[in-house]
Amino acid sequence: QQGDPVEAPAFLAASYACQRNTPHPGHNILLTAALSVLAESAELNGDEGRGLAFRRSEGLLRSLDRRVQGPAELRGLPCLGDHSRRVIQDLLENGVSSEVEETKSSPRYKAMKLLTGIFGVGVKTAKRWFTEGICSLAQLETSGHSLNAAQQAGLKYYTDLNQPVSREEADAVSVMVEGVVHSVLPGARVTLAGGFRRGKMSGHDVDFLITHPDEGKEEGLIHKIIACLESRGLLLYQQTTRNTYRESAKGAGRPSSSMDRFDRCFSIFKLTNDSSPEDTRRAQQDPERVRVEADQTGSGGRPWRAVRVDLVVSPISQFAFALLGWTGSKLFEREMRRWAVRERAMSLSSHALYDRNQERYLRASSEEEIFAHLGLEYVSPTGRNA
Ligand code: GTP
Ligand code: MN
Ligand code: MN
Repeated sequence: QQGDPVEAPAFLAASYACQRNTPHPGHNILLTAALSVLAESAELNGDEGRGLAFRRSEGLLRSLDRRVQGPAELRGLPCLGDHSRRVIQDLLENGVSSEVEETKSSPRYKAMKLLTGIFGVGVKTAKRWFTEGICSLAQLETSGHSLNAAQQAGLKYYTDLNQPVSREEADAVSVMVEGVVHSVLPGARVTLAGGFRRGKMSGHDVDFLITHPDEGKEEGLIHKIIACLESRGLLLYQQTTRNTYRESAKGAGRPSSSMDRFDRCFSIFKLTNDSSPEDTRRAQQDPERVRVEADQTGSGGRPWRAVRVDLVVSPISQFAFALLGWTGSKLFEREMRRWAVRERAMSLSSHALYDRNQERYLRASSEEEIFAHLGLEYVSPTGRNA
């Protein structure tokens, strides 16, 4: 018998996102975008469990190697709960989901999205403000709330920071960061992480992981980088936090939360409009020129824009774990940690992998080795867009 071709995907999909190859944006954009709205709405309501369920559905659909045409094709697929299935069915049959449309136009969702879109504002703060009736930036500005330094910068550069960062802009920032890092510590290595490493063409920020092949040389590096960036007039805002991670005999250094403990800096860069990667590379040879131009163009016409940049410094001994952890996606990372605990009795973090049965840390100097320790087939960065 020819069989029902629509059942084929059931055999392609494994239940953990880290067992699958998930390209960006995948073949089911209509469905994944809709599920992403519902996931985001749940997350903005503080309902993590519900958010995760929608994220898992979204990830599964993005990993399918073809466009789903009808509900029958969903038979046997993992990760899809009843709620997600209903939404998908609606979308397949009517082209829209009333639940998604209602969510998108609800005042709460709109206000929460706007408020959490301010750098430095999390769900809790946004919720408190929304409860007080604050639904717009103008209302926030006249509310009399005192904002912390991050939030003030977030408000000041709101428009810029909510405009996606392009691949070209990310490359220009890379050249800036590499120039500064190499000038303060020759031999240091800069690696683009986050969504751009996964092959995305745009992002909400640019993420960098920095290390040095000689363990210990990276100590104090973040402060030198920041000082140099500041002296060149390239920073609009920065907040640096210090490393506190230590391994312990019983694996207590393993992650108790998803926050890691590298030296890191959340920052906002000033990217001039002529900062094509080539121009920036040339300007690096003459930092004084960049500084003067940046000063001249800072006001009025504004031929520059603000871009969110994350800088993370890792000792070389933890680099593979840090790279894996900071490449994402968030769901892919989360699923990998879940796989480690449930299927292998191991704890994975951005610092280390701890085997609970053997009661010891497992070393790795590449991402491939980490996948191998976990008994997973290697998934390249471009396949981690779960
Ligand atoms: P866009 O920036 O929106 O393009 O997507 P992205 O995937 O790059 O997201 P983001 O920059 O927020 O995060 C990049 C990766 O760093 C993701 O895998 C996150 O899980 C990870 N990440 C972000 N913040 C932290 C953190 O505090 N600790 C750890 N360990 N990882 C983090
Ligand atoms: Mn990012
Ligand atoms: Mn980031």
